[in-house]
Amino acid sequence: MSRFSARVEAISISGIREVFEAAGEDAINLGLGQPDFPTPDHARRAAVDAIEAGEVDAYTSNKGTRELREAIAAKHARDGQSVDPEDVIATAGGSEALHLAMEAHVEPGDEVLIPDPGFVAYDALTKLAGGTPVPVELREDLTLDPAAVEAAITDETAAFVVCSPANPTGAVQSPADMREFARIADEHDVLCLSDEVYEQIVFDGEHRSPMEFGENVAVVNACSKTYSMTGWRLGWVTSTTDRIERMLRVHQYVQACASAPAQYAAEAALSGPQDVIDEMVGAFAERRDVLLDGLADMGLETPTPSGAFYAMPRVPEGWVDAVIDRGVVVVPGEAFGANGAGHARISYAVSVETLKEALEAMRAATRATR
Ligand SMILES: Cc1ncc(COP(=O)(O)O)c(C=O)c1O
Repeated sequence: MSRFSARVEAISISGIREVFEAAGEDAINLGLGQPDFPTPDHARRAAVDAIEAGEVDAYTSNKGTRELREAIAAKHARDGQSVDPEDVIATAGGSEALHLAMEAHVEPGDEVLIPDPGFVAYDALTKLAGGTPVPVELREDLTLDPAAVEAAITDETAAFVVCSPANPTGAVQSPADMREFARIADEHDVLCLSDEVYEQIVFDGEHRSPMEFGENVAVVNACSKTYSMTGWRLGWVTSTTDRIERMLRVHQYVQACASAPAQYAAEAALSGPQDVIDEMVGAFAERRDVLLDGLADMGLETPTPSGAFYAMPRVPEGWVDAVIDRGVVVVPGEAFGANGAGHARISYAVSVETLKEALEAMRAATRATR
C-alpha cells in the first residue's frame, strides 16, 4: 500500500510559489494575484462590531448567515440575475467554492475541460476529485472558444470551466460566448463551472454570466478581488437547488461554515457603497495602459486584457528568467498550462511608479534575450 493517495501525488505546489522563492527579498513583485488596496473601512468595521458584540463565537448555519446570503442575492439582483438566498453557500474564498463544485460533480475517470492557459486550481482540483483535466486551447485573443469546448466534449465530460475576466490572461468573454457556453452545458448535459471572481474588474465590454442563459451552471464568486479581501477568505457558490444541496454535503464536512467574522465583513462590503470598486477599476485601467504602452514600446505583442489585473505578453525564450534576474517577479506562462509557454503573466496590482520601474527591467531583459 502506498503511503499517500494517488490523487494527492498527482498535484504539486503551484509553480507561482517557486518563482516567488527564486526572487530576491526586495524584488518588485508582479506575480501577485491580489489587489493592492485596503479592504473598505465599512467592511472591516462590520467584522469588528460583530466580534465585539459576541456575534461570531459560534458556527453560523452551514450555508452562511441568512443576512449574508440575502446580500449576495441582492448583488445578483443588481446584475439582473435572480438568485434565491437558499441556493447560495458562503465558502472559504472562491477556492473552496471551486473545490465543492468539483467534488460534487466529478467522478473518478470523468473529464473536466479547462482553459489552457488557465487558473492553476482547475487542473489540481479536477485531479483531487479523481477526474482528468482536459486542456482547451484559447483563441489568438486568449478568450475561450465555445466551439473548441463543444468539440472537446466526450461521454466522459462532467464539466467545463469558464473564467471571465480570466486569470492569467485578463481576457473577457463576450455575452454571445456566455450564451453559447450555457447552451452547450444544457445541450450536452454537462456542468458549466463559471468562475466570476474578477467580474467587477472590466475595462472594455461587459461581464455577463452563463447563469443568465441556462440551467446547467454553477457560479463561483468571492469578495477577494472585488473588495480587496483576499485575506478574509470569503466567497460563494450559487447554482440550482439540487446542485447546491450536493455541494452543501461537501461543505458541511470540510468546512462546516465560512468564518463568521468574514461573513459579517462580506455582508457589509456587498450591501455598502460600491464606489470603492469604481476607484479600484479606474486605477487598474490606468496601470494597464501604462503596462501595455511599455510592452508595445519594447516590441512585445500583448493581447489587450479587457479585465482583471493581468496581462500576458508573448515573450522571447529566457525572458522570464532575465526579468527575474533584474529584480522583477513575473510568472512564466507554462505555470498555467502547456499552451502558456512563450508567454509571461504580469500582474499590475502595483502603483504606476512601481510599474514604470519594473518596465525598465523588462526593457533590459528584452534587449538581452532578443
Ligand atoms: C480565477 C480565480 N479563481 C479563483 C480564485 C480564488 O480566489 P479566493 O482567494 O477567493 O479563494 C483566484 C485567486 O487568485 C483566481 O484567480
